[in-house]
Amino acid sequence: MTLELKNLCNTYTDESGQDTVAALSNITLTVRAGEFLAVIGPSGCGKTTMLRIIAGLEQPTAGEVFINGEQLAEPWSRVGFVFQEYALFPWRTVSENVEFGLELKNIPKQERRRMALEYINQFGMGGFENKYPKELSGGMKQRVAIARTLITNPSIILMDEPFGSLDSQTRNALQEFLRDVWQTSQKTIIFITHNIDEAVFLSHRVIGFSRRPGTIKFSLDINIPEPRDRTGSEFNRCRKQILDFLQQESRADK
Ligand SMILES: Nc1ncnc2c1ncn2[C@@H]1O[C@H](COP(=O)(O)OP(=O)(O)OP(=O)(O)O)[C@@H](O)[C@H]1O
Ligand SMILES: [Mg+2]
Repeated sequence: MTLELKNLCNTYTDESGQDTVAALSNITLTVRAGEFLAVIGPSGCGKTTMLRIIAGLEQPTAGEVFINGEQLAEPWSRVGFVFQEYALFPWRTVSENVEFGLELKNIPKQERRRMALEYINQFGMGGFENKYPKELSGGMKQRVAIARTLITNPSIILMDEPFGSLDSQTRNALQEFLRDVWQTSQKTIIFITHNIDEAVFLSHRVIGFSRRPGTIKFSLDINIPEPRDRTGSEFNRCRKQILDFLQQESRADK
């Protein structure tokens, strides 16, 4: 699955039509099949907007999205979205949350349940299938959110700061978990984060957005062999390059 964005621009206009916010400017980007791409950039620079456009949830003001060479015209069912905030249904159990996408595909109840249990066990949550989201820790909720996305077998997974609200230990554990999931599934993943360490640990390439309206100003290929050592010299070199870019970008504003 190859994803191409061509000259994407997006400007939001309020209901009165008077007030506009330019969120994205001229984004051109190709993401190859199986690539893990991390996106960093200042708050409000249009990162979530870009994901919403890729998922077909938002129409860009200008520009085009191509998936496997075909232009995206409407919300695309093969995109999985893991949102910035936990987006579990509080009234559904863990299993019912994980089964949600399968219900939309009309998969029979027994089969749904069987598949959900497989994911729940694989995600280290066996025994919690009948619990409700409020009974789970933050890390567990995010594992349910990822399971709920993966079970529908999307071709591309969009992750919007999925680990942003977790403590650093849980976050590191989930990064390792996601890396293992990615290594077995070989999905194409676009992963937004404000965390430099996370971007270097997980991705093949990191791109950096400018301040709003977001445009791509920075790109770094990460060629560190797996398993990645967070304290290695190459890891630190990448970390520093990204930090320098973000610092430059925040100075550019002043
Ligand atoms: N539905 C909307 N209607 C109007 N303006 C919007 C809407 N969604 C986002 N915006 C504006 O567009 C700009 C970019 O927002 P976006 O959510 O894409 O930023 P972001 O890079 O994801 O930020 P953060 O890192 O804080 O999540 C912001 O100024 C925001 O106020
Ligand atoms: Mg965002």
